[in-house]
Amino acid sequence: MNIGIIGAGAIGKCLASKFVKLGHVVSIANSRGPASLKQLAEEIGAMAVTVEEAVLDKDVIVVAIPQKSILNLPRNLFNGISKGAVVIDTGNYYPRLRDGVIPSLEQSGIDSLWTQEQLEYPVVKVFNSIFATSLSDLGRPKGAKDRIALAVSGDRLEAKQIVFQLVDALGFEPFDLGTIAQSWRQQPGSSIYCRDINFDELEKRVTAMGTDWTEMREIIIDKHRLDEIAIEVDFSAWQKKLA
Ligand SMILES: NC(=O)c1ccc[n+]([C@@H]2O[C@H](COP(=O)([O-])OP(=O)(O)OC[C@H]3O[C@@H](n4cnc5c(N)ncnc54)[C@H](OP(=O)(O)O)[C@@H]3O)[C@@H](O)[C@H]2O)c1
Repeated sequence: MNIGIIGAGAIGKCLASKFVKLGHVVSIANSRGPASLKQLAEEIGAMAVTVEEAVLDKDVIVVAIPQKSILNLPRNLFNGISKGAVVIDTGNYYPRLRDGVIPSLEQSGIDSLWTQEQLEYPVVKVFNSIFATSLSDLGRPKGAKDRIALAVSGDRLEAKQIVFQLVDALGFEPFDLGTIAQSWRQQPGSSIYCRDINFDELEKRVTAMGTDWTEMREIIIDKHRLDEIAIEVDFSAWQKKLA
């Protein structure tokens, strides 16, 4: 497939390199232009491109930039993309540590619902709930007991099916979490966020969260607020305590 990746940081770089190894043709963009990405692109076998080129004639486009940077993408970026192209959103909202408060996002409190509205294109939320280091190192063959499950949310089933195949090829077990409106169950503060758990455990936790955002919103947002403070103090200590 032709895959475009916007964002060449921890997660964009990791996905670009993995997709190249799987035989896909990968283009990668950042905010500073292709010249700044030349070396990285050469190292991983991808093409350094502009943001506009990263979305042109692609089967899959990955948006892997900080939540606040969604607002800096060119207007109508996704207007002319290939029919049926899949747009993946890896984003998470970190108001305290990185993004600042985004009032329009906090109206619903659902990160990817807001992103989908900003991009004016249906997104598939995936790869947000795993550390780039785990994505890089912990892929396992199908059937392995310790295969990590990855939550996938989105409103278009055909798009999710393509994502399921990509997740599987990367060595992870796709888990269909439902629509974008339900994607709060995989965002920061939820019990499946960055836990590196297998399918059965993920299913158990998703069932325990239920489907009522109005009931869970305060619990999840409060947990994320406390997590941000803990991360600010000592990221490694916070990461070790995740259960
Ligand atoms: N790090 C992880 O383990 C991880 C895991 C899962 C999900 N995520 C989520 O994925 C998103 C990206 O995280 P990250 O850790 O990869 O970020 P990062 O390491 O800080 O990298 C951000 C990348 O986004 C690019 N960027 C920023 N604004 C842009 C714009 N307007 N147009 C094009 N490119 C732009 C930056 O390019 P420049 O350097 O040129 O500005 C940089 O390449 C975040 O929402 C994060 O929460 C992260």
